[in-house]
Amino acid sequence: MLLDWISLFLRWFHVVAGVAWIGASFYFIWLDNNLRTPPDWKKQKGIKGDLWAVHGGGFYEVAKYEYGPEVIPEKLHWFKWEAYTTWISGFLLLCLVYYHGAAIYLIDSSVMDLTPSQAISRGLALIFGGLFIYEAACRSPLSRYPKVFGIMFLVMLAVASYLATQWFSGRGAFIHIGALIGTIMAGNVFFKIMPAQRLMVDAVANKTEIDPSWGLGAKLRSVHNNYLTLPLLFIMISNHYPMTYQHQNAWLVLMAIGLVSAWIRHYFNLKHIGISRPSILVTGAIGMVMIAGWVSMPVMVKEDSLSTENTPVIELNAQQQQVFDVIQTHCANCHAANPTDEIFVVAPVGLMFDTWQQIEQRAAVIHNRAVVTKDMPMMNKTGMTEADRQVIGTWFEGLSSK
Ligand code: HEC
Repeated sequence: MLLDWISLFLRWFHVVAGVAWIGASFYFIWLDNNLRTPPDWKKQKGIKGDLWAVHGGGFYEVAKYEYGPEVIPEKLHWFKWEAYTTWISGFLLLCLVYYHGAAIYLIDSSVMDLTPSQAISRGLALIFGGLFIYEAACRSPLSRYPKVFGIMFLVMLAVASYLATQWFSGRGAFIHIGALIGTIMAGNVFFKIMPAQRLMVDAVANKTEIDPSWGLGAKLRSVHNNYLTLPLLFIMISNHYPMTYQHQNAWLVLMAIGLVSAWIRHYFNLKHIGISRPSILVTGAIGMVMIAGWVSMPVMVKEDSLSTENTPVIELNAQQQQVFDVIQTHCANCHAANPTDEIFVVAPVGLMFDTWQQIEQRAAVIHNRAVVTKDMPMMNKTGMTEADRQVIGTWFEGLSSK
């Protein structure tokens, strides 16, 4: 219970901080793209862009300086804590849900039979290794070719997604790619955008020249952050949609949704600078519908490694027998070598519960779907009750406390 409350407050805080971060960043992009040439008297003061807005019962006048103000104002807002607190709360949440609860959420023994510490070290290596590679690439000459850089970056994310889906449960894999992207984005603020701004502020204060390269390096990273926002937000909500992360090629689903959503972001970026390309929205929507169609297609059954043949029949104790019966009544009409369900004539995703061995090996995923997320049985077609779920819950807790 206590952990659930901590998790609730952390998650809530994380979402609020994320709203503030992404909201501020959307606002500044919008601002930059809507600045107009100012009247002459403002130009003489060094203002290059000017904007008027009305909001919440007042008028606002915004001015963007070509270089900087003559003196640094006493109070200058930086907008960095939004990014840092989002990252810190997200990382704590990852530790609490996926690392403390590694056996339930991160490890899927049918994907790879890892111990919690093995899984956690792979997860951390993926996040911080990815950050390191990205940072190294940003500091290399590669950063002078934004298009090439963009493609390399995509390849890197594809490799990371592929690895994650070979190591972790579907949810665990998706959240690690989210954590990698979020870490890169917060890193962009911490390693480049903030230092560049500090140099600029110092230059203004000391009345020295501002080096245009400071702003350029920071610009590349804020462009990355901009295109990463929609994919990142998708990953944050993806754990409600098992059809995406449980797909046989979940890494491809993730890359496809990420790419199409970045493409849709591109429409808004162009729109802000006065270019209207509705074709992007239309192709983006078609792309999303095609992904949905592809993801929903019935999958080829992969051979179950634990087939009914050759598995010895074993004596079950009373509790095991109870679990076995619940699963036979509520799951095996779909998940069996010969399903009796009229729609699922082959076992969905090749998952079968004909023998005790098959059930025991899949204990963690069964528990996850029948007790935690409760999205199995599919649409509760077999009328599973809370008491039935509790039978599995109690059995699983006994297993995991051993
Ligand atoms: C009416 C048919 C039906 C019933 C009954 C059913 N399932 Fe499923 N199950 C599916 C379908 C379809 C999928 C694939 C889509 C998905 O993952 O949401 C699936 C997927 C799963 C998965 C994900 C497997 C993977 O590796 O991706 C698990 C775990 C699972 N079911 C467990 C259960 C359990 C436990 C029960 C009984 C409490 C159950 N199911 C009852 C249809 C069913």
